[in-house]
Amino acid sequence: MEIKIKKEMDKEQDVLVYGLFADDKVTELPSDAQEAVRRKIVDPSKFGQTYATLLQGKKCIVLALGKKEDFTLNHLRRALGKAVKAVKNLKLDSFSTNVVSLLSSANKFSAQELGRCSAEGLLLANYGFTKYFSEEKRKEMKSIKEVSVVYLPDSALFQEGLRQGIVLADATNYVRDLVNEPAKVVTPEYLEHEAKKLAGKLVKVRVLNQKDMEKEGLNTLLGVASGSALPPKLVFLEYTGGKGEYTAVVGKGITFDSGGYNLKPTKYIEDMKSDMAGAAAVLATIKVAAELGIKKNILGVMPLCENMIGSRAQKPGDIVKAYNGKTIEIGNTDAEGRLVLADALAYTEKKYHPEIMVDLATLTGACVVALGYEIAGVMGKDDQLIADLEKAGKRSHDLIWKLPFLEEYQDYMDGTISDLNNISTKGKGYEAGSITGGVFLSKFVEKARWAHLDIAGRAYTPLDSDYQPKYATGAGVRLLVYYFMGW
Ligand code: BES
Ligand code: ZN
Ligand code: ZN
Repeated sequence: MEIKIKKEMDKEQDVLVYGLFADDKVTELPSDAQEAVRRKIVDPSKFGQTYATLLQGKKCIVLALGKKEDFTLNHLRRALGKAVKAVKNLKLDSFSTNVVSLLSSANKFSAQELGRCSAEGLLLANYGFTKYFSEEKRKEMKSIKEVSVVYLPDSALFQEGLRQGIVLADATNYVRDLVNEPAKVVTPEYLEHEAKKLAGKLVKVRVLNQKDMEKEGLNTLLGVASGSALPPKLVFLEYTGGKGEYTAVVGKGITFDSGGYNLKPTKYIEDMKSDMAGAAAVLATIKVAAELGIKKNILGVMPLCENMIGSRAQKPGDIVKAYNGKTIEIGNTDAEGRLVLADALAYTEKKYHPEIMVDLATLTGACVVALGYEIAGVMGKDDQLIADLEKAGKRSHDLIWKLPFLEEYQDYMDGTISDLNNISTKGKGYEAGSITGGVFLSKFVEKARWAHLDIAGRAYTPLDSDYQPKYATGAGVRLLVYYFMGW
């Protein structure tokens, strides 16, 4: 999609999309639209309502924006997302809109924010995973080719914001592609290959193969991988854009989670190609860091393997020794994410001494039950780090919600005949499932400031919304980039 900046509505485009705030003058609108507002056929105070009409033979959409004082940058993303969807539905290629210019006079948002959030809304809504449709079908599935955005003030900062938003949205859509792609394509080796594509002046890529992991004693990662025909990988993306210690971002990369011998049932197993969404978000974050030249040192870590049921697969009741020396009873082979992360976190801390570690993982079904698809869980003991992440979550609308990491929960993962169990040994075992998953991970971090993000519900959604089509969402990329950029 090409985004152009114009001083007035661009009549060359296929559709004109007029935003309308409650109490705005309607005189610029076609007369029948003015009449529709008067007769409340479209109510400008109800964000998202639309009215379609013609203006001198040109297709025209009036988009209600609600009350100006309630309008946020996320409403901007959503409004432009709605415009993209509406024009796609008309099977047309391009549109012009004045929504941004209605805001630029309000002075509530900076030019850069307006540019960034505009690009996010437009490009995220224009996404479609169409490669597996037949040629004929794919042709019917329109995407928008060109958008003219009306913006009146000096446009250098707006332009800069657009550029940032384009990088961010493209990276998010890249994650969506990786997650939507079937597990027979996106294997550990495939993701290793994608990582190596980023290698360059600012990014070094280092990979531990199975043999290296055996030598290093990364037994919990190897244990999960042992049921699969595909070799596991532990990939490090070392991005050096600044001074100081690394911030490590560690992403769960299970390219398919069958559950192992605690096999997942029908209705739960089908989406498990998405269990590498954390790793994909890490990969894309490093990509953005390099493209935007983020002035920080960031270490991307991707523990990659499948969780399968081959004859060498680990079994419930097995006991494995993690890289940090702790022994773990496998109470459930389906609680595999915490096992691969355990070794990844401990090894990363030992070898790289990061100041901060943040992990992203589709870790627990319990998190989907607790928080649904709109917001991820965050936990840990570093309140400042969590507050910083929460702020980035709000600003990017890649939302996170803090779960109570109570002292009372800290022994729930203690083992009976080993140091730890990979499922809770208290009560019935499933209570506070997301928190106990986080508690387990915390046992593999010593000094680093650490937070855990459970993106199980956020990464892959059955719902379709304004700038988020069904299935892979690309969750985590905007959160982390806003966090690093301090946006
Ligand atoms: N990958 C799943 C979690 C998941 C569930 C992600 C639904 C996305 C949607 C994870 O490996 C898992 O199976 N966790 C178990 C943990 C339990 C055995 C303690 C779960 O949530 O049931
Ligand atoms: Zn699992
Ligand atoms: Zn999993």
